Amino acid sequence: MSQSTNITWHDSEVTKSDRQQQNGHKSVVIWFTGLSGSGKSTVSVALEKALFQLGKHSYRLDGDNVRHGLNNNLGFSPEDRKENIRRIGEVSKLLVDAGTIAITAFISPYRADRDDVRAILEDGEFIEVYTACSVEACEQRDPKGLYKKARAGEIKEFTGISAPYEVPHQPEITIDTEHQSVEASVNTIIEYLKEKQYI
Ligand SMILES: Nc1ncnc2c1ncn2[C@@H]1O[C@H](COP(=O)(O)OP(=O)(O)OP(=O)(O)O)[C@@H](O)[C@H]1O
Ligand SMILES: [Mg+2]
Repeated sequence: MSQSTNITWHDSEVTKSDRQQQNGHKSVVIWFTGLSGSGKSTVSVALEKALFQLGKHSYRLDGDNVRHGLNNNLGFSPEDRKENIRRIGEVSKLLVDAGTIAITAFISPYRADRDDVRAILEDGEFIEVYTACSVEACEQRDPKGLYKKARAGEIKEFTGISAPYEVPHQPEITIDTEHQSVEASVNTIIEYLKEKQYI
């Protein structure tokens, strides 16, 4: 709920579409969602690099990085997860307004929270990428040792173990990170962006 009063929006004289035109591509949010260890960070880093090499302007927002700064006052309760995603959504929107391709890598386990982000953007500005990977495979990878801690009861509310993950109903893109290489996942996304004329 907004607590600000006496505030008035002040428009720029450079528009989003001016910026997109100057950049030579559209701006959009590429929103990764999936279990911890499913490969959101890995694929998003590779995607950011691929887009950079193609001369496209992109910027990656990653769960842990954002929790170091902007969201360091938030935990992992449902309310805090919701607020975490809300702020990321607003930052992503600013990046889109700035003409940039925003790439976000957050578990974002709740469908409603992801849909709230979609709702603050214009049509076509939110590309949901589901990083599909079984909890067993994620647990086997366990790149940060988090599943081990969660199983030992050292982390409460751990997605996939003791907190829910709601699979997207109609993601724009699904990448099967259990059976498909990082390069193949990046190619799937780049091809989508080209086909839909984002880039
Ligand atoms: N095909 C693949 N695609 C993506 N990652 C893979 C693949 N095969 C193996 N991996 C490995 O799986 C792990 C994925 O971890 P990563 O940190 O990217 O997950 P994450 O979804 O960002 O998790 P978290 O939500 O905890 O940040 C990495 O160690 C990566 O090397
Ligand atoms: Mg990550």
